[in-house]
Amino acid sequence: MQKIFIVLFFLFIGAQINAQVIHIETKNTSLVFSVSKKGKVYQSHYGGHLKSIKGIEKIQSYISEIYPSFGNGSSDEVAVIVTHSDGTMATDLFYQSHEQKLSDGVQETVVHLKDKKLPFFVDLCFRAYQEENVIEQNVVISHQEKGEVRLDQFASSALAFKAESYYLTHFNGSWAREMHISEEKLSNGVKSIETRRGVRTTEYENPSFVMALNQAASEDNGEVIMGALAWMGNYKLSFQVDDQERCQFIGGINLFASAYTISAGEKFETPRMILTYNSSGKNQASINLHRWARKYNLQDGNAIRPIVLNSWEGAYFNFDAARLKEMMDGAAEMGVEIFVLDDGWFGNKYPRNSDKAGLGDWQVNRKKLPAGIDNLIDYTERKGMKFGIWVEPEMVNPKSELAENHPEWIIQRKNNREPILTRNQLLLDLANPKVQDFVFGIIDNLLSEHSRIAYIKWDANRHIQNFGSTFLDDDKQSHLWIDYSRGLESVFFRLQEKYPGIIFQACSSGGGRVDFSSMKYTHEFWASDDTDPYERLFIQWGTNHIYPPIATAAHVTKSPNHQTGRETSLKFRFDVAFGGRLGMELRPDDLEPEQVDYAKSAIKLYKEIRPVIQFGDLYRLQSPYDSDGFASINYVLPDKSEAILMVYSHEFHRRMERAVVKMKGLDEDALYKITELNKAAKRPHIVFDNQIISGSVLMNTGFKVNLKKPLESAVFKVEKVTGESSAN
Ligand code: GLA
Repeated sequence: MQKIFIVLFFLFIGAQINAQVIHIETKNTSLVFSVSKKGKVYQSHYGGHLKSIKGIEKIQSYISEIYPSFGNGSSDEVAVIVTHSDGTMATDLFYQSHEQKLSDGVQETVVHLKDKKLPFFVDLCFRAYQEENVIEQNVVISHQEKGEVRLDQFASSALAFKAESYYLTHFNGSWAREMHISEEKLSNGVKSIETRRGVRTTEYENPSFVMALNQAASEDNGEVIMGALAWMGNYKLSFQVDDQERCQFIGGINLFASAYTISAGEKFETPRMILTYNSSGKNQASINLHRWARKYNLQDGNAIRPIVLNSWEGAYFNFDAARLKEMMDGAAEMGVEIFVLDDGWFGNKYPRNSDKAGLGDWQVNRKKLPAGIDNLIDYTERKGMKFGIWVEPEMVNPKSELAENHPEWIIQRKNNREPILTRNQLLLDLANPKVQDFVFGIIDNLLSEHSRIAYIKWDANRHIQNFGSTFLDDDKQSHLWIDYSRGLESVFFRLQEKYPGIIFQACSSGGGRVDFSSMKYTHEFWASDDTDPYERLFIQWGTNHIYPPIATAAHVTKSPNHQTGRETSLKFRFDVAFGGRLGMELRPDDLEPEQVDYAKSAIKLYKEIRPVIQFGDLYRLQSPYDSDGFASINYVLPDKSEAILMVYSHEFHRRMERAVVKMKGLDEDALYKITELNKAAKRPHIVFDNQIISGSVLMNTGFKVNLKKPLESAVFKVEKVTGESSAN
């Protein structure tokens, strides 16, 4: 009897294992995997939250394997391709076990898989952020085979979708035209978003996407999955629509010329893929990512960002201490909080007076700045501001002492092939730990010798073209792409550990480093070298689909600026820069006295409203990409007590119509007072300025904003009136 009981017990356990269901969940979303009777793990669901998963494995709505591998029958895009140590290329992954725990609002799940025949292991790690509805995934690959194993593909995430049609939104452009939105309906075949530049990887295409199921993505309707890879190197996100109308997504490092070998016991960890699902359109998906980033993936995401004046567009390489002090005087007068000295302050044997020389020689240029950096810091502090400085530590000009002393540190093609130059510079080999120490040391020296430096602008102005490393073994040259990015990340990590609180900006020829990996170690990014406010409307619109406004550095420059030559009013320039982390980038002396007065009041105003912009939720109301000539957004504090509305006209519109705006995200049951801010003219742009209006009306009854000419703008504060009810 007892024997029968034991047998039955084990049968029961066995049945349990076969019927394993793994439920990864956030407040509003569920990602479910089921283990089949044979021990294969399949994705059963990614979408709205399932209150109960009972029976999900029975309906066998398997969409795809959790981590499709090459060599087990599939001809589709796969997540992993391996050449095992015995030379075989078949990999067939089976469920071993999984564990799950929930703490501090994050559910962590690890699913352990193993190859059917060989000691080759894949751990899939998921972190589900409960309140933010974000799921982060990465993968750890290891083995205990006899020799080395070669990885030819290793995705961070594999997800499958089942819908009637698929609409992909992605963000691309060029230098000074980053993050422009492209939307397309996917047809059968593979569409991939990728880069093969190694460094400065987000300048032309960003590692992020919006996938809308069954209908084109709209702000407030439809099922969308928004995703982004947290990686500073080459990436590839591919979407394959097959004959069954299934869409298989595989995202991670781009394996282009990047085969990677690992020895027994070594763990290969992929970057994180960040995902959010939302059943009511794109806007909420963006809000999910912004909230998640501020809390978990941005340095000091809960700290107010100071207003910066950066010297670049005001002085370029052409300055001395007197010119900088004159700029500091003007900055302080306008209310700026940090003065940042950009490129051109270093190099003696080869002074950095243009982009042709000096890069790599991080000693203060004695001719331009004979009294050194501390003298400038003293002056900035006397003016009530803090001091920041520009560096481009991954790079070197051939005309520099660094290139003379350490030619072996440069990424280069062997056999004396001519180096290919971009902006007259070359890249240092961050795969080499000595170079990592050198790069770390540049910032470490600056911050320890000048402990009052409060801000570092970290630039990177070229990508990898002279592929080759003198550090890596000949049979490991293909590791360079990945080891470079890992080396860079380790330097960022060390600096953050040692210098918490120092503000870091990720810049890379403008928006070449806008990704969730660099963001983890920095406070903000430079969205684009194009500071023309008309262009910025489009760039910031795309950027803020994925990345939060608090981290989006937006500077007011002179008009016409150096990129487009377009004339714009100072008000328009401020109103567009208000949309992110406001800064300035001009020579204050170039402003007329009344412009200085205007800038002063605009900066004062931004200081009042920045908590709403930096910590509020961003709602996109009218897109500049639509052709009606207007764009509008509003930001709302999480408790809905205050909102800032911004409306822009960006083109001639034939009928001279007014913008008709419906706000979003307010409390329907509350009353709000709406007041125009930052006025350049006496007449307000709405007929109900300073009036009390219900949240319901502001959101549902379109109201007119009187912008008659192109490149005009209006900004409003919308503040909850307490103690009064909206009922009639
Ligand atoms: C890059 C940056 C600019 C500026 C220059 C300096 O282009 O994007 O903001 O710092 O380098 O050389």
